[in-house]
Amino acid sequence: MKDKQTDPEQLILESWQINAKPWIEVLNEGGIPSRKLVTNQAIINAVLETGPETVLDIGCGEGWLVRALTETGISATGVDGVAELIQSAEEQTEGRFIQLTYDEISAATITERFDAIVCNFSLLGGDSVEQLFRELPGLLNGRGYLIVQTLHPDNFPGPEGWREGTWAGIYGDFSQPAPWYYRTLSSWLSLFTRSGFELISQTAPLHPESGLPASLILVGRYSV
Ligand SMILES: C[S@@+](CC[C@H](N)C(=O)[O-])C[C@H]1O[C@@H](n2cnc3c(N)ncnc32)[C@H](O)[C@@H]1O
Repeated sequence: MKDKQTDPEQLILESWQINAKPWIEVLNEGGIPSRKLVTNQAIINAVLETGPETVLDIGCGEGWLVRALTETGISATGVDGVAELIQSAEEQTEGRFIQLTYDEISAATITERFDAIVCNFSLLGGDSVEQLFRELPGLLNGRGYLIVQTLHPDNFPGPEGWREGTWAGIYGDFSQPAPWYYRTLSSWLSLFTRSGFELISQTAPLHPESGLPASLILVGRYSV
């Protein structure tokens, strides 16, 4: 049995509960430059390229991506485990939001089916993400799409495993950074394949100032 106080999966959720307020503030202020410069538009484009009518945003936070997709005419739903983030999303957005942790997400707890699922910098855990991926096919319409944006593995060389978290580079009243589970490119690809997703594209948008990859975007399609 895992100790709740040291289980990294629990620490991730706790950290987002503690930091929901500064996170909402920093996003409202557009306070993360790489997002404004590169990664926000990159994930919107990646979703639009799959041509969905309905999208589920997993780990939606305060809902900015649901708002952006809704503006393009897509019917978007957000799900997140943190009550304060879901509340803020509901206050700011007309979209639909559900409060569930990843281990609660399944075809039984979310009854709608979607053309695409998007996870924007929200896959932070180890087993919780493995378990979530097993449930994703059941949430899709037939051969639906899975679009993941994450930290680029080349920027964090080393073996797969848990890493210490930090809020360095993000301004605000943040505390208690959570550990995060680092996956190499091949571990991401293997996770997609094991979960039944054929890789459609793999891109690394570049940060215009540093010239380094600002993120990794993987697009998969469920191949039944
Ligand atoms: C870096 S934020 C990204 C939020 C949003 N996708 C965005 O682009 O701004 C990570 C999000 O994942 C959510 N999250 C992480 N692990 C979770 C879990 N196990 N269950 C539910 N939500 C989780 C957090 O609550 C947080 O909102």
